[in-house]
Amino acid sequence: MQKRPENGEIEQLAGILRAGGLVAFPTETVYGLGADATNSDAVLGIYETKGRPRFNPLIVHVADLEMARRYVELSPLALRLASFWPGPLTLVLPRRPDAGLSDIVTAGLDTVGIRVPAHPLAQALIRAADRPIAAPSANRSGKLSPTSAAQVRANFGDRVPVLDGGAAAAGVESTILAVDGDLVTQLRAGALPRDEIEALLGHPIAVAAANAAISAPGMLASHYAPEASLRLDVVVPEPDEAYLGFGNGPATPYTLSATGDLREAARNLFSILHEMDQTHRRIAVAPIPATGLGEAINDRLRRAAAPRDR
Ligand code: TXA
Ligand code: MG
Repeated sequence: MQKRPENGEIEQLAGILRAGGLVAFPTETVYGLGADATNSDAVLGIYETKGRPRFNPLIVHVADLEMARRYVELSPLALRLASFWPGPLTLVLPRRPDAGLSDIVTAGLDTVGIRVPAHPLAQALIRAADRPIAAPSANRSGKLSPTSAAQVRANFGDRVPVLDGGAAAAGVESTILAVDGDLVTQLRAGALPRDEIEALLGHPIAVAAANAAISAPGMLASHYAPEASLRLDVVVPEPDEAYLGFGNGPATPYTLSATGDLREAARNLFSILHEMDQTHRRIAVAPIPATGLGEAINDRLRRAAAPRDR
């Protein structure tokens, strides 16, 4: 059932998004907890509000194909798949450099999960905000994905304004496909059935093991992994190591947060690691507390430090 927004409501909520706030909004799959995908502080607010302990890359929502082109590269194959847009399909595509997306949204990957939601209120909100909107499901971590405004309010109370678009049509999240050259791999089964995708393409597609996008070792390699070696929890770096500091400690040009602020550290993590990786072969990282956002930071640091074959 479709709901009509109140007069001026879309404009008001779009203003909140532009100012770095969070807005829950309807899509055809589930309600999303949205933030400006170009604003790292805003995106961090999603993790804090959800109580989500780890950073996963977030899906970026855009209003149409033209807007998608600003942020990702669409091969002819990707363009064929994009014929399902607007709709419950997320495509993982090469990120366009310098397009302005926050590194927190992509978790440092050089790809972006992007989709054009079909819900007219989602489209109206994105257009009014004139920003790409990062949005996971609008529930507290570990709870079910919400399919109504009331369910969103049950999760967050008055902390987040909710655009009420009635009951979500799909109720399960979008299907996620990775498009890599000629290879199409379903990373997450979702609201767009695979047989429809295969009918369009005229051949079967690969299917990643359940939850591979999050947990399979093969996928971890695609998480941010610097060329440099990383040594963690280092209080005194070796002479040939570049030191990534946090709070008080040895003097260094690189610090996640001089004041020991985890939010600042999370915001800086991927960009500073990337910068250090350009000029250093060995990086030593200061201990980061495991509390709050520190859990996510440590998770990403452990992944970046894990042995890997290249
Ligand atoms: O239906 C949906 O997709 C909902 C509504 C709100 O649009 N959104 C949603 O978002 O389910 P979320 O944050 O729960 O899904 C994010 C997942 C990640 O955990 C990861 O599996 C995958 O999308 N993903 C996003 N970007 C990716 C990337 N660059 N590479 C691989 N997987 C990616
Ligand atoms: Mg979810």
